[in-house]
Amino acid sequence: MKVKRFGVSLEENLLGRLDRLVEEKQFPNRSQAIRFLINKYIVEEKWESDDEVAGAIVLVYNHHKRDLQNKSTEVQHNYHDLILSVQHVHLNHDNCLETIAVKGSAKRLRALADKLISIKGIKHGELVMSTHE
Ligand code: NI
Repeated sequence: MKVKRFGVSLEENLLGRLDRLVEEKQFPNRSQAIRFLINKYIVEEKWESDDEVAGAIVLVYNHHKRDLQNKSTEVQHNYHDLILSVQHVHLNHDNCLETIAVKGSAKRLRALADKLISIKGIKHGELVMSTHE
């Protein structure tokens, strides 16, 4: 893709904030930091609308919990058209980590994530929001 240059005027304190971000996140330069912020804004805006988006649902749970896996499987089947892949890792004797790659309307993906994360016994659950563009 063609890269275009443009000048940006910023107040000193805002420029200071930008440079702190560059340092904290270890961006190679200010351009990369500004690129990151614009893309982050676009992704968040898409997830607020009902556009088609992509992301991942991450779940950590104890597989000995009664019915947890049955319930999770049932919810996933109800939204099977959104699920691209499921990766299951046995973390240790008790705990499992599941990463579910998803693509579809933002509203339905949130609904799926909420239903999975709220299953009794899930220790940690998170929806990672991204885009496929
Ligand atoms: Ni497991």
